Amino acid sequence: MNPQELGRAEDIERILIDEKVIEKRLDAMAEQIDREFPSGPIVALILLKGALVFAADLLRRLPRPLDIECLKVASYHGGTESSGVVTFLDHALPDVQGRHVLLLDDILDTGRTLQAVTQRLLSEGCAAVHTAVLLAKDRTREAEIDADYVGFVIGDEFVVGYGLDYKGRYRNLPFVGVLKSDIATPH
Ligand code: IMP
Ligand code: MG
Repeated sequence: MNPQELGRAEDIERILIDEKVIEKRLDAMAEQIDREFPSGPIVALILLKGALVFAADLLRRLPRPLDIECLKVASYHGGTESSGVVTFLDHALPDVQGRHVLLLDDILDTGRTLQAVTQRLLSEGCAAVHTAVLLAKDRTREAEIDADYVGFVIGDEFVVGYGLDYKGRYRNLPFVGVLKSDIATPH
């Protein structure tokens, strides 16, 4: 497959979670976060790029004051398998000293990303890290971590859309879906 041609909605074999279902779930998640989150200053930390769409939709449902920060990390290098190494692509972390962080990622897979970022934030002196993901794969994690807020638990398969990519494409699809098998190659 020519990489230039990737990214069309026709490349999707099946829709796993459609837009309306996501929207409804985000209403409930935001309500739960608002109810449970400690009062005081919050930093919502968005892991780029995957959590961008999820965070934009979730945070607009949270009616409390918060700061929004972004952090760029990478654990995939183009294919459909995690590389096992979490790389911080930003030199500096936002100031999280003494603050509660709501850490947002698109999907919890091996757990290495959330674990690495959580450890880094705690070492920077934040008060606590609360994690929220749109998706969590139903699998054994390689890092001992679970998300505090999970939108949907899904099977252990590679998905795209609603922020999630394959080779940089499909993030703008409004639903979460599975790619046709002749398009996604694990390497
Ligand atoms: P973990 O560190 O293995 O938990 O992986 C988390 C990161 O891997 C996420 O932030 C995603 O960017 C990426 N990822 C994991 N599974 C998928 C998937 O099914 N589709 C697209 N990206 C994924
Ligand atoms: Mg990601």
